[in-house]
Amino acid sequence: MKNIVIFGAPGSGKGTQSDKIIAEYGVAHISTGDVLRGEIKAGTELGKTASAYINEGKLVPDSLIIDMLAVTLDAKGKDIPGVIFDGFPRTIAQAEALNEMLAARGEKVSVVIGLEVDDEELIKRIIARGKTSGRADDNEETAKKRLNTYYSQTLPLKDFYINEGKYAKIQGVGTIDGIYADIKKAIDAAE
Ligand code: AP5
Ligand code: MG
Repeated sequence: MKNIVIFGAPGSGKGTQSDKIIAEYGVAHISTGDVLRGEIKAGTELGKTASAYINEGKLVPDSLIIDMLAVTLDAKGKDIPGVIFDGFPRTIAQAEALNEMLAARGEKVSVVIGLEVDDEELIKRIIARGKTSGRADDNEETAKKRLNTYYSQTLPLKDFYINEGKYAKIQGVGTIDGIYADIKKAIDAAE
């Protein structure tokens, strides 16, 4: 199985490139952001708790996310060629939990696709998307908070995965197809 982590700041293109990876490799998509927005829409307790964090550009607590991820992963079943994890892990604790969850299933992370995009471009993309996305966190003020959260809590994972020999640095600025071509090379090179 190919278990791919797509990693990068808010607006770096994780969702956009996940769609292309899914179309080519048939892997199952797990976007923790999408799952949380589904919970908010459904008005669940988890959704109510999560929306307070999301609207402030903060991370939802690890314990809630890790439990939610385990349920989502189990629901995908065993007949899948792999999973693309989009927006997860976002903390060292989540990365360690993912390694344990996959090991318990006889699996591992194959590769981490690290989309690298400058801050100015990220903010520009999020503001542009905010005109149509309906996402409460797609505005300049919250985008800046999301970026701060990314640098303080999520970026340390880059070194975590470099140490594991799994980090593939991808230049995330350019055409969507050009970026995808680099991603495909990194996926095909991974075990
Ligand atoms: P989440 O939904 O994961 O959002 P995010 O990481 O902030 O990233 P986005 O979805 O905004 O961007 P993206 O990288 O997918 O880029 P996209 O392809 O859309 O998380 C939201 C919140 O949920 C978090 O802040 C947190 O509160 C909570 N949360 C989620 N997971 C969590 C976790 N594991 N732990 C704790 N809390 C969690 O592209 C962006 C835009 O740019 C689009 O409009 C796109 O069309 C455009 N674009 C894409 N590629 C290009 C390109 N090459 N050139 C120009 N434009 C492009
Ligand atoms: Mg996304």
